[in-house]
Amino acid sequence: MRDLAQDLALAQQLADIADVITRDRYQSLDLVIETKPDLTPVTDADKSVEAKLREVIAANRPDDLVVGEEFGTPALTADNYYWVIDPIDGTKNFLRGIPTWATLIGLCNPAGEVVVGVVSAPALYRRWFAHSGGGAFVSENGGTPKQIRVSQVRELKDASLSYSDLVGWGTRKMAMITLQEKIWRSRGLGDFWSHMLVAEGAVDIAVEPVLALWDMAALDIVVREAGGSFTNLDGKPGAHGGNGVSSNGLLHNDFLTALNA
Ligand code: IPD
Ligand code: CA
Ligand code: CA
Repeated sequence: MRDLAQDLALAQQLADIADVITRDRYQSLDLVIETKPDLTPVTDADKSVEAKLREVIAANRPDDLVVGEEFGTPALTADNYYWVIDPIDGTKNFLRGIPTWATLIGLCNPAGEVVVGVVSAPALYRRWFAHSGGGAFVSENGGTPKQIRVSQVRELKDASLSYSDLVGWGTRKMAMITLQEKIWRSRGLGDFWSHMLVAEGAVDIAVEPVLALWDMAALDIVVREAGGSFTNLDGKPGAHGGNGVSSNGLLHNDFLTALNA
């Protein structure tokens, strides 16, 4: 049996290590920016964080596997837990000096369920974390963690929605635009932040149309442990569905029905 509190403690250490690297490279004049084959940017900070975290995980959990955005996905097995790392979520923000970026660290059991998550956003002075059954917490500026809960908003007309942008919606694009006229408020706050605001109860729904496992793993457990729901746009629970919706749970089905109408 795994001790998930111990795994969360390791994930916090990994986040501390990541924060040192990212803080040092954020807004530095010699930041190295390259373009990946998928035409998205990557910086030296993204690569350094993932390389270092892989090293520390290998030393502390030699049997675990690691899935990371920059250095790939191994063959997963029915026996091994695996860590899921997005070294910097919001790289385009990071390289332009916008403080909304975070290191995302998740741990999945062999069945693929996320059981530990840490989302560390040092330029926002905030870190969110959770493990299965332990509740979700936020710590501000390294201070005492505070337990967080999703909102109680029940109707779409009263709901606040955050998304990234209008790219990638395909056949759902018109529904996405129409929905924004039917709800109380929408903002494109973007990336991990939309989902962490759902966990805090500050926003009621967060949605993104194209995501990878590393974009979602850590978010999924924090939202669920805060009492919310995390599925893909077809309503499939978890972080493996290629896109993601977080909500307070109460609005989840109505939102998906409207988006898929
Ligand atoms: C991006 C963010 C963003 C999502 C993009 C991702 P990155 O990740 O997660 O929210 O809309 O699809 O690529 O590249 O900044 O780690
Ligand atoms: Ca990402
Ligand atoms: Ca990334």
